[in-house]
Amino acid sequence: MTDTSAPEAGDAYEFTTDWLRYNVANWRKIFSENRIETILEIGSYEGRSTCWMIEVLSARAALEVSCVDSWSGGDEHQVGGRFESSMPEVERRFDRNVTIASAKAAHKVTVKKYKNLSNLGLAEVIAERRAPYFDLVYVDGSHHAPDVLTDSIMAFHVLKVGGIMMFDDYLWRLDPHILNQPKIAIDSFLNVFQEKMVVMHDLTIRQLYARKIAA
Ligand SMILES: C[S@@+](CC[C@H](N)C(=O)[O-])C[C@H]1O[C@@H](n2cnc3c(N)ncnc32)[C@H](O)[C@@H]1O
Repeated sequence: MTDTSAPEAGDAYEFTTDWLRYNVANWRKIFSENRIETILEIGSYEGRSTCWMIEVLSARAALEVSCVDSWSGGDEHQVGGRFESSMPEVERRFDRNVTIASAKAAHKVTVKKYKNLSNLGLAEVIAERRAPYFDLVYVDGSHHAPDVLTDSIMAFHVLKVGGIMMFDDYLWRLDPHILNQPKIAIDSFLNVFQEKMVVMHDLTIRQLYARKIAA
């Protein structure tokens, strides 16, 4: 699964979606150039992005992945939505997929689930860690701008200086209302935190990537 985002023949993974494939080139570059041993993922769904990160990074060192997800889905996963899903089934596939990825790993992998709305899950993570802890944060939960802004600000406090924040769906326009898109939130966060976060300009921007430069 590491070369593309598609499961290889023989993999026992159960994936029904592939939102990762557009980002694999950027991710491969980021992951090869940075030491990443602690990850906070907001929005894990059935674990495709989680498993890709586990496969790539656990080949080098032990890895801890903290996953915050309500496993109740965003608007797009509800009945009649574009990606209508049975969320209990999605969570079952997540559990199974990360178990498979972890079992294949060369180094120890610890996956911790925070099953909650992201503001509450992130409050738990912050209370547990109390200080910057993560090398990488992946913001891929709700697409509503107020949620994306909240997720970004809360996650900033547990991202190490030098660490990277990856924002999914920077250019997502499925819902025409600007407040139902992540972009205005990501732009707002990076503007207000401009003395603490820099955009990584050498990457294509379907997603947006920024590095923390100050506490
Ligand atoms: C697009 S999916 C994540 C995809 C995954 N990162 C991947 O690449 O395969 C978004 C996930 O965010 C979760 N989610 C949406 N809104 C949320 C919220 N407010 N709090 C917590 N989780 C949320 C949904 O349950 C869903 O599993």
